Amino acid sequence: MLLKNCKVLYKNKESIKDILVADGKIVKVYNCSEIEELDIDDIIDVDNNWVLPGVIDVHTHMRDPGLCYKEDFETGSKACAKGGVTTFIDMPNTVPNTTTKKILDDKEMNSKNRSYVDYGFHFGGSKLDNSGEIRKVKNRVASTKIFLNMSTGDMLVEEDKVLENLFKESKIVSVHAEEEMVDRAIDLARRFKTPLYLCHLSKKSEVEKLRAAKKEGLKIYGEVAPHHLFLNSSMANSLLMMKPELKEKSDNEALWLGLQDGTIDTIGTDHAPHTLEEKNLKVTYGIPGVENSLELMLKELYKKLDMKTLQNIMSKNPAKIFGIENKGKLEIGYDADLVVVDTTAKETIKNKDIVSKCSWTPYDGIVGGGKVLSTIVRGKLVYDGKNFIEKIGEGVSYKNV
Ligand code: DOR
Ligand code: ZN
Ligand code: ZN
Repeated sequence: MLLKNCKVLYKNKESIKDILVADGKIVKVYNCSEIEELDIDDIIDVDNNWVLPGVIDVHTHMRDPGLCYKEDFETGSKACAKGGVTTFIDMPNTVPNTTTKKILDDKEMNSKNRSYVDYGFHFGGSKLDNSGEIRKVKNRVASTKIFLNMSTGDMLVEEDKVLENLFKESKIVSVHAEEEMVDRAIDLARRFKTPLYLCHLSKKSEVEKLRAAKKEGLKIYGEVAPHHLFLNSSMANSLLMMKPELKEKSDNEALWLGLQDGTIDTIGTDHAPHTLEEKNLKVTYGIPGVENSLELMLKELYKKLDMKTLQNIMSKNPAKIFGIENKGKLEIGYDADLVVVDTTAKETIKNKDIVSKCSWTPYDGIVGGGKVLSTIVRGKLVYDGKNFIEKIGEGVSYKNV
């Protein structure tokens, strides 16, 4: 495959390049002359549109298995492809919870040939202390995910001794931790020297805790979800219920600052689809996100974010933190996971266009900052701006972090 006339950020410079792909990898980033080549059948002229490294969303709840009436691997991965997400990592609060090797084996089997984009899994830490299971699978998963607060799915872990064992055994821990639970997680990470990933920071005080922990030299990373950047409690309604809940406008600002100064490392959507019926019937925490995160973040391009920061927080840092191999950068030797975006297209996000099985978005009516024209996974076109082409997604591998 040859992508012609790509606007790229390459070696820290904005330029127009051609990208040659072979065997799923980026092999050349150059200005190809017409006379050399071109015995390539698959040439796409992207017409000076931006080509970014594919988005890596390490925080998704695809509901498969067990809750497939909300989302499944196929529909969730479609939503990813449409949003420019070329790799997603799935959370363990599926049914049954991903807390044993056997359940992980089954989840992996069940996902084969069903995803448009590449994927991986977080393992779940259990209140019954499944550190023995963690030992068996830790090189096959992105992290051990531990819930330190109550949320959707019954995965809360409270006991000190159990938490200590889970931290001791894990390669890296991801936590759902709010407010004082952030301190508890940081303390465990400090004591057991376990790298820690703080999911969905939502509050100024939490950003400050992360900033201090980084200053101390701890291996602690932070994520923010687009809804905690773009929405706040003044907009709250029954659909906009999630954990952590929306906070104040001043928290939105502190979170943006955290991204700008490098305190917060990643964007993770916490894609948590529920049907509208469920949301309307009773308090149900979670909102979908993968389909719109890139177009939302692009709204702030050259305002709150420069192109380098955007690529760092959406692609490079997630891959680096979890050791996802060959992904996260538009560089020679890396997987050709690429997304072509027209940053001049300002399209209104609409419920009727949503391909996630839940069929709604909290961003209905908001104008996005760009349109995904193509999504390419390991050199294969999986979405062309309209159609979903092929379910070629595979499981990712991890190196030690
Ligand atoms: O709002 C949420 N929904 N927060 C979580 O932590 C879980 C998620 C879900 O799975 O629905
Ligand atoms: Zn959570
Ligand atoms: Zn979550």
